[in-house]
Amino acid sequence: MYSLKRKVILITGGTGSFGRACVKTLLEKHNPKAIRIYSRDELKQWEMSRKFNSDKLRFLIGDVRDYERLRRATEGVDVIIHAAALKQVPAAEYNPMEAVKTNIGGAMNVINAALDNNVPRVIALSTDKAAAPVNTYGATKLVADRLFIQSNAYRGPKRDTRFSVVRYGNVLASRGSVIPLFRAQQASGELTVTHPEMTRFWISLPQSVDFVLTSLAIMQGGEMFVPKIPSMKIMDLAKVMAPGATCRIVGIRPGEKIHECLITKEEGRHAYEMKDRYVVLSASPIGWDNDLRKYKGVKKMKGEFEYHSHTNKHFLDHHSMRRLLKEVEKHA
Ligand SMILES: NC(=O)c1ccc[n+]([C@@H]2O[C@H](COP(=O)([O-])OP(=O)(O)OC[C@H]3O[C@@H](n4cnc5c(N)ncnc54)[C@H](OP(=O)(O)O)[C@@H]3O)[C@@H](O)[C@H]2O)c1
Repeated sequence: MYSLKRKVILITGGTGSFGRACVKTLLEKHNPKAIRIYSRDELKQWEMSRKFNSDKLRFLIGDVRDYERLRRATEGVDVIIHAAALKQVPAAEYNPMEAVKTNIGGAMNVINAALDNNVPRVIALSTDKAAAPVNTYGATKLVADRLFIQSNAYRGPKRDTRFSVVRYGNVLASRGSVIPLFRAQQASGELTVTHPEMTRFWISLPQSVDFVLTSLAIMQGGEMFVPKIPSMKIMDLAKVMAPGATCRIVGIRPGEKIHECLITKEEGRHAYEMKDRYVVLSASPIGWDNDLRKYKGVKKMKGEFEYHSHTNKHFLDHHSMRRLLKEVEKHA
C-alpha cells in the first residue's frame, strides 16, 4: 500500500480551503517528511505558518504561471497535489485570459516541472464545471484535465512520473459558495435563489481531502477519479438554513447550469465503478496501461452511463442536510 510517510509533498494553492484542510490531515495522520506550500500571497502563507506552527511546512512564494520557479520548487518532491486555480466563475468570465494563464498555462508548467524533476506522483484537482463546460472556468479546467491525463504519454521509458485527476462537485461552505451566502442573508429573512429546480453535488472539505489522498494511493496514472457523492436541491438547502424565510428567485447567472454533471456520456464509456468512487480511464491511453486488477472490486459501468446531479440516486433529505451543516460548523 502506497504511504505518504516521510514523503516530500508539494501543494500548489496550499493556502486555499482545500490546501489548509489537506495540510491538517497530512500532519495529523500521514507523517510526511516535509510539505511545501506553493502560492502567491505572503499574508495567507504567514497566517497559515502561525496557525500550524510546524517545522515540516515550507512556504514557497510562487506563481504557477512561472515555470522556472516551479521547477526549482519541485526538486526532490515525491508527490504534487495541484490545487491552485482561478476558480470563481464570474471572475473567469470577466478575465478569461487570466483564467487560461493560471488554469491551463499553470497546469502545463506543473506537468513540465514534474517531468523535468521526475516527480513520481502528480494529482490535479478538477471540478464538475469541467464536464461539458458552459463557462470559461469549466472550459479551462477541462483542458487542464486533458493535459494531466494525456501527459502520461510524455514520461517516456526513462521517467516514472504519473499523472491523475480527481473531479468532484461543490465543496460545502468553501469560499464564495452558497452556504456562506445564505448565512449572510439569514438575518434579513430573504434568501436569493437563482432557479427553483437547481441541483448540485455536495462534498465536505474533509471528505474531499480524504478522496484526494485515497486516490493518490491507488493511482496508476491516467485515471480521473470521481467520488460517489450526494446531490441536493438548492431550494431545500435554503429551507433548511432559514425555515420561514422567503426565497427570491433571481434567475440563472451567466455561465451557470441548472444541474451539474461529473461524468459525461462520452466519459461514461470508459468508466468503471468501485465501492466509493468511479474511475474514468482515458479514451486514448497512448503509451500506458491501467491494470484493472489493481483497483479493488472494480466493475465496468454497463450501458450508457452518465453522472448528473439531478438524476443522482443519492439525494440529501432535510435531516441529512442539517447533519452536514452541523459538521461544517464544527470544521469552520
Ligand atoms: N471549492 C470548491 O467548491 C471546489 C469544487 C471542486 C473542485 N475545486 C478545485 O479545488 C482546487 C482548490 O480549491 P479551493 O477551494 O481550495 O480554492 P481557494 O480556496 O480559492 O484556493 C486557491 C489557492 O490557489 C492559490 N493560487 C491562485 N492562483 C495561483 C497562482 N497563479 N499561482 C499559485 N497559486 C495560486 C491561492 O493562493 P494565492 O492567491 O496566494 O496565490 C490559494 O492558495 C481548485 O483547483 C478548484 O478548481 C474546488
